[in-house]
Amino acid sequence: MFMANNGKVVLAYSGGLDTSVCIRYLQKLHKMDVITVTVDCGQDDDFKEIERRAKLIGAVKHVYVDAKEEFARDYVIPSIKANGLYQGKYPLATALARPLIAAKTVQVADKEGAAAIAHGCTGKGNDQIRFDVTMRALNPNLKIIAPVRDMNLTRDVEIKYAKEQEIPISTEAKKYSIDINLWGRAVEGGNIEDADFEPPEEAFQFIDFKNDKAGYLELEFDEGTPVAADGKNMQITDLIQYVNDKAGSHGVGIVDHIEDRVVGIKSREVYEAPAAVSIIEAHKDLEKMVLTKHELAFKRIVDEQWSWLCYAGLWQDPLRSDLDRFIDATQTRVSGKVRLKMQRGSLRVVGRQSRYSLYKNDLATYAAGSTFDQSLAKGFVELWGLQSIIANSVVDAASKNSSKKRR
Ligand code: ARG
Repeated sequence: MFMANNGKVVLAYSGGLDTSVCIRYLQKLHKMDVITVTVDCGQDDDFKEIERRAKLIGAVKHVYVDAKEEFARDYVIPSIKANGLYQGKYPLATALARPLIAAKTVQVADKEGAAAIAHGCTGKGNDQIRFDVTMRALNPNLKIIAPVRDMNLTRDVEIKYAKEQEIPISTEAKKYSIDINLWGRAVEGGNIEDADFEPPEEAFQFIDFKNDKAGYLELEFDEGTPVAADGKNMQITDLIQYVNDKAGSHGVGIVDHIEDRVVGIKSREVYEAPAAVSIIEAHKDLEKMVLTKHELAFKRIVDEQWSWLCYAGLWQDPLRSDLDRFIDATQTRVSGKVRLKMQRGSLRVVGRQSRYSLYKNDLATYAAGSTFDQSLAKGFVELWGLQSIIANSVVDAASKNSSKKRR
């Protein structure tokens, strides 16, 4: 038995290599009783097996938290409303889940009267920031221990330690390191660390590479929230799964880009997020129909800032909830339907409708019956271009003047 004289530590436990090794380090080096917490954000793991493993390695207690609904309601839906894409591409799946996992872990620590809280993040990524900042914001009295970061551990060292310590880790040589939840899947490591190497089909789980047929998906939004798919009302978690399967079956949802981590590293990131990619595309399109161009221009800035806060671990910053209030105010008119066409990985909006539409056919039409009075345009155009026209003539006059002088 281990001497646990330094009290309890609550570890955010995924069941993977990093956090499994952490259990033993926390016991042996920190001499603490380890309580593991696994937060279910829709990763579809074998949670019984994870609990069994935690206890086998030495956890004195294991807590499973089903947070799927909460994740969808309080994290994914706000992100849809914010068109949450970091650097215009990454749908933030991992970034959204971390503050929730951190919050649940703090809750358990408070309940258990723990002295410390722990996570398995490395010192190279964004997750350490998301965990630390959220944990400290929620309970600054808890000490945070991050064994992998503290000891500068690499995967090879961890595997060696696991073997020495007889820590059960999945023996199948995993080609990639995967982080997955309801909103998407991040694939890392192995051959795709070469930024010029095309991710092979086996890196993906939802994408059907053989289906050539085109398919349609109709999404209905109510105040910015998706409420129905293909005419069926669904709970948000079911809807996301439905869209994920359908869009994935048409090859939609792979994101492959170069990303700037908060710590300055540029990384090649590969994601698979059919639901996120198609829902955000549809949501953006509907916003274009119902919001004014002034709202759209400003909201684009807000969306980008919102995505950055989420990515950079500042979920708890008051600015995020301030921005949410603005975003929610814009969403009261974002209700309607969007029809998407998908084929072999391409995604295109082919139709949209809303009772709040600002698109008026009688104004836009080139056919007879237009209510737009063209005679009003002449004066408008004159004033619209006034400064640009004057600026050109001033420059012209000045250059003629100076060439005269030189003669
Ligand atoms: N680059 C993404 C992010 O920072 C995904 C990282 C996923 N990997 C991980 N080990 N959590 O959110």
